[in-house]
Amino acid sequence: MKKAVRTDFKRILVTAALPYANGDLHLGHLAGAYLPADIYVRYQRLKGRDVLFLCGSDEHGVPIMVTADKEKTSPQAVVDRYHLRNKTAFEAFGMSFDNYSRTSLPLHHETSQEFFRLFHRQGLLREKKEQQLYCEKEKMFLADRYVEGICPNCKSDQARGDQCENCGTWLSQTSLIEPKCKICGTAPVIRETSHWYFPLGDFQSRLEAYVGERDKRDGWKENVLRYCESWFKEGLQDRAVTRDLTWGVKVPVEGYESKVLYVWFDAVLGYITSGKEWAAAQGTRDRWKDYWLSDDTKYVAFIGKDNVVFHCIVFPAMLMAWNDASISRYVLPENVPANEFLNFEGQKFSKSRGWGIDLKDFLACFPADPLRYTLAVNLPEYRDSDFYLKDFQARTNNELADIFGNFVNRTLAFAERQFANRVPQPGHLTDRDRAMLETLRIAPEKVGHHYERYEFRDGLFETMDLARAANKYFNDSEPWKTAKDAPQACATTINICLQIARSLAILFHPVTPGISEKLWRILNIEEHITRAGWDSAGRQHLGVNRPLNKAEILVKKIEHEEIQKVVKSLENNMASTEVKNSSGPTPTNVIKLDDFKKIDLRVAKVLSAERVPKSEKLIKIQIEIGSERRQIVAGIGEHYQPADLVNKLIVVVANLEPAKLMGVESQGMLLAAHGDGKLAIVTLSSEVESGSAVR
Ligand code: MF3
Ligand code: ZN
Repeated sequence: MKKAVRTDFKRILVTAALPYANGDLHLGHLAGAYLPADIYVRYQRLKGRDVLFLCGSDEHGVPIMVTADKEKTSPQAVVDRYHLRNKTAFEAFGMSFDNYSRTSLPLHHETSQEFFRLFHRQGLLREKKEQQLYCEKEKMFLADRYVEGICPNCKSDQARGDQCENCGTWLSQTSLIEPKCKICGTAPVIRETSHWYFPLGDFQSRLEAYVGERDKRDGWKENVLRYCESWFKEGLQDRAVTRDLTWGVKVPVEGYESKVLYVWFDAVLGYITSGKEWAAAQGTRDRWKDYWLSDDTKYVAFIGKDNVVFHCIVFPAMLMAWNDASISRYVLPENVPANEFLNFEGQKFSKSRGWGIDLKDFLACFPADPLRYTLAVNLPEYRDSDFYLKDFQARTNNELADIFGNFVNRTLAFAERQFANRVPQPGHLTDRDRAMLETLRIAPEKVGHHYERYEFRDGLFETMDLARAANKYFNDSEPWKTAKDAPQACATTINICLQIARSLAILFHPVTPGISEKLWRILNIEEHITRAGWDSAGRQHLGVNRPLNKAEILVKKIEHEEIQKVVKSLENNMASTEVKNSSGPTPTNVIKLDDFKKIDLRVAKVLSAERVPKSEKLIKIQIEIGSERRQIVAGIGEHYQPADLVNKLIVVVANLEPAKLMGVESQGMLLAAHGDGKLAIVTLSSEVESGSAVR
């Protein structure tokens, strides 16, 4: 389907979700919001657009307080530590934020209180008395994640005061079964307290219109539209925007001195604070208004899928409410591109299990660009995707190094050897030269078309395709032959290849800025690459005779041993968290008991067995399951002799769809342990009737 894209704007404001300052960033975070945002911003800057790119740390919320309790330190100390670590890791990754703020700043507390005060003064907020869980030992209300219990919906014991981790249901904390205080473990009592509610439901029809209309203007992603729809369908409810907590933005209303704003109320306003902080640092205190308070701004908010409701519904409603009541009017997001999740080696990232790699640990082993490239190729744009270390190595070596890097290296080697390291004068153009130049001419538009539409993987594929075409052009032109018998043709080829190298530096810049800048230096171009202009990548800009710098290897390949280093650090992570988790690791690929029960496992007795002719692996086994006789074929021939099996009691999947193996029918599957090149079939330690169920 063709997607619209809004182009009538003077400025672009881009935000990326503010990460919690409560842990290190890992690769999954990058693939969700940050890398796409950075690619978009770098592309738009190359297009010459006026862009402001804002982010910062989200420093409130219960999990941060829990970390502080656990470490016997203050929440401020926790956020100070992670703010610095995340900021540093982002820089090393090449994020080009104009400002990286934090929500514990006084400036941010002012911004949030200003919003709350206006809503309160307008009579928009509703005060309600409600029943809440209170821990008599800790002398505090157990907001959100301070309480754990059993989910009333799915009966999992992983439910928190605000949400069940297992089934995702939003909970009211008094509905938790057997609630326990997260700090001391005792059972809380119920007490009455009062809170202010934001009337989200009153905004429903305007929000629906907003989402629909923005989609028409700027083509929202299907997944985002679907999330919004399901929220609308359920019906929006009033939402409490205050909490009985000590850490956060104080509620600026009498009688609420011991309460703070709900973390999501203040967090989304952190984007605005970040703009204010940026403007002040530039010495132009009001300049943030050019972006935030202007209809000429196109505002794009990059997030991960778990943030959709807050950015497509809650935040726009808050801005609508502000705009209704004030003469200054905030711009609402034009688009909220949200990605799905990235898995690591086939499993969900999990801090508690130590599964996954932190950004800073990864960057201690490898440069940022190959990581950015691999993540960009695998962005979870439409569905969850995976990051595999093997793939990281293969993409780096076989694509980045062998296609892009190799093309540039060959070109530069020729320029140095044949043309005294200068751009040679081209001669008469052949059809092949012309075709190559045409491919080059349309490349910026092709790639840009995708980037404008938040299709980052497609844009990158087009970019790599240009490098592929360039390599083929180099091969087909055979400059190593023409260098001897047709120097004019050789000069033309190398001139064109150098022009393409310049173009590739520009077109790859959003994804691999470090590599691009290195290539730019080798090409000896003075003006900064970000000034070069995206569209100039379609043209031939390098003047004849211009001297080049000494070539260096553009992309270093990754050796197997280097990958092993990362695997080691992953194993260490897992080992150290296993010690910490007394309860042991939790499986991520959980299934329901009912799903397990679908598998009919039975005890079977082996009556006879023989090898399948011409197969080393397969053994044909006749079994008895109760009164029934069956034949199964098992791939255990390298580990067992048929005679060893006879009379053994084994376990088989009795309701597996029959299959043919090397032409022999198999009516079931036996269970065996596989590991480390060894194999052992599951047998029973004492006599039971064949046909007995195994559970
Ligand atoms: N800290 C939140 C998270 O990591 C994101 C907050 S985005 C903001 O999921 F807009 F609210 F700041
Ligand atoms: Zn549940």
